[in-house]
Amino acid sequence: MTVETPTTGPGLQTGLVDAFGRVATDLRVSLTDRCNLRCTYCMPAEGLDWLPKPELLTDAEIVRLITVAVTRLGVTEVRFTGGEPLMRRGLPGIIEQVAALEPRPKQSVTTNGLGLTKLAGTLKAAGLDRVNVSLDTLDPARFHTLTRRDRHHDVVAGMAAAAEAGLTPVKVNAVLMRGVNDDEAPALLAWCLERGYELRFIEQMPLDAQHGWKREQMVTAEEILRDLSAAFRLTPEGDTARGSAPAERWLVDGGPGRVGVIGTVTRPFCGACDRTRLTADGQIRNCLFAREESDLRSALRAGASDDELADRWRAAMATKKAGAGIDDPTFLQPARPMSAIGG
Ligand code: 5AD
Ligand code: SF4
Repeated sequence: MTVETPTTGPGLQTGLVDAFGRVATDLRVSLTDRCNLRCTYCMPAEGLDWLPKPELLTDAEIVRLITVAVTRLGVTEVRFTGGEPLMRRGLPGIIEQVAALEPRPKQSVTTNGLGLTKLAGTLKAAGLDRVNVSLDTLDPARFHTLTRRDRHHDVVAGMAAAAEAGLTPVKVNAVLMRGVNDDEAPALLAWCLERGYELRFIEQMPLDAQHGWKREQMVTAEEILRDLSAAFRLTPEGDTARGSAPAERWLVDGGPGRVGVIGTVTRPFCGACDRTRLTADGQIRNCLFAREESDLRSALRAGASDDELADRWRAAMATKKAGAGIDDPTFLQPARPMSAIGG
């Protein structure tokens, strides 16, 4: 197969291309594996053995690696994740330094929303463009059961603070679970539309630390679309580049409101993947479901040049597999849970 070589600027350096011609321009950076919630589909009540501090990248190391990605590897979008990224004290400073890069990448944070009432203004001032907030239910009691913390009100207030600060559009991620919140799809959508938030449902993935994921427990994209269609008129949003693939985004009642349904398990779209991932301990992952990682931290701490780091990153992405095959019976869950990879 011929691999097209993209350019990332005047130096004609190559970007992050894999053997299937996909180019990664969207970098997800996990800033911590810790979290102040305990969502049942993510981690056990007692939490996890957190990564030891010396293994975590420092703020300066994170900024250095993002700089390599943006200025040498063609990354145009940086998304901070966790664990809960707002628990990282250096976050505003990291965002500020990344915002000063040329070309300036788009920056967003995927958060559980708890820190936003305090931090939204600071993050906006530092140069953050947007937030994705996770909210799986409109019912405070269910929220408590689901996240093992009684903080529903704080998340809702955090979303409002983000909108107020101009971190827009506020996007909302929701995971539905059978027998827990699987009746809430239409209500969640109505609630988000009222507030101008963009809602996306995400199929529950086998990435929980407890390895408790069960195929039958997962509420599928098809079920979600069926429930939404009973309450709203959905029209697929035109993305012809996806060809015959099932739509992921829908206009609601003719628009401008829309909704996303991400069928990672039942409707994978690995062919269009443009992501590369950096874990909080400095490992490159070329896929959320990859079982191998490339250690950039050791190279960084051994004094590697920016060129060498860029080369290692390219090599890590070159071996990206065609697809994750989660629905395949031979699928093996990666060793790291979602909270240590970044969403
Ligand atoms: N399956 C699907 N989504 C998950 N998230 C966390 N764990 C899982 C899982 N096992 C979601 C969070 C958040 C985003 C980072 O990923 O709810 O919205
Ligand atoms: Fe925390 Fe996100 Fe995991 Fe929930 S899903 S426990 S908010 S890291």
